[in-house]
Amino acid sequence: LVVGTESMTRNPIAAFDHRTGFKLGSPVGFKDFMWEALKDPAAGINMIQTAENLAKKYNITREEVDQFASDSFAKAVAAQAAGFHAGEIVPVVTEKFELEGYIPRGIKLQGKVIEVNADTHPRISPADVLGKLRPVYEGGVQTGGNSSALVDAAAACVVTSGSYAKANGKKPLARVVAAAAVGVPPEIMGIGPAPAIRLLLERTGLKLSDIGRFEINEAQGAQTLAVAKELGLDVSKLNVNGGAIALGHPLAATGVRLTITLARELQRSGLRYGISSACVGGGQGIALLIENQEAA
Ligand SMILES: CC(C)(COP(=O)(O)OP(=O)(O)OC[C@H]1O[C@@H](n2cnc3c(N)ncnc32)[C@H](O)[C@@H]1OP(=O)(O)O)[C@@H](O)C(=O)NCCC(=O)NCCS
Repeated sequence: LVVGTESMTRNPIAAFDHRTGFKLGSPVGFKDFMWEALKDPAAGINMIQTAENLAKKYNITREEVDQFASDSFAKAVAAQAAGFHAGEIVPVVTEKFELEGYIPRGIKLQGKVIEVNADTHPRISPADVLGKLRPVYEGGVQTGGNSSALVDAAAACVVTSGSYAKANGKKPLARVVAAAAVGVPPEIMGIGPAPAIRLLLERTGLKLSDIGRFEINEAQGAQTLAVAKELGLDVSKLNVNGGAIALGHPLAATGVRLTITLARELQRSGLRYGISSACVGGGQGIALLIENQEAA
């Protein structure tokens, strides 16, 4: 059972230095857990700055990033309207979990909301509207509109052997063929998917053109564009149902989310091979090749 969960809206802000009390007059120090996740202490920069480094290295303009983001939003909205995303979402409702002898626990949705059954960040976002947003860094290309959204989510799937599935009459969504993980310089961590995908292809003897669909996490718009440029990727095969700029990047849940979306997209389009891939803060890239066996 492979599970990832992340609540970015409930990331705590904690004081680590005061276990033994506060010294009168000295500063009280708080740390934001989310910032801890988005800052690289080795490179001394945050994730947005790693994308800015890639924008410079690959000559990616603000206009290109906004257009890419706008397309991601449009694809996500269209896929939602077509009912694609609903096929992989378990609605969250107000509910109680009770077990004799224990205090009941549960989920309580806010206000009058009775069910959350769709991602809430996607919205039509024309490039000229995104173009008006203030960059996070003066003169930079990344904004709140063309970077992955900070969201709450969980994702889960079951991975088993082919023989177990067959013996128990289970029909797998996809076959896991191979995986690859690589290290890259932390200050350009976002390029990670490019060498990871290259290594994966080398290991499996496949060509880029053999891959029908790519789900590459859109940590930041410039980051994904840099990966696409580095690989010479056909972007019409990339994140065809929208990416993390529109749907969000709940850090720990993203890997499973990308791969489930990819498996379902391969089934929808009748294509055989797909690669899901993500960059990893700290300087890594990871990629997974899956196969839609019905198209084999
Ligand atoms: C980029 C980032 C710093 C922005 O954070 P933020 O400043 O809190 O962003 P907000 O959600 O407030 O958005 C900024 C503005 O853009 C607007 N905006 C965001 N998306 C928009 C859209 N699709 N259309 C129009 N406006 C939009 C917001 O309404 C907000 O406007 P306001 O300032 O008038 O309120 C943050 O989202 C981030 O770090 N994302 C990337 C995370 C990451 O790197 N993850 C990968 C780790 S490897």
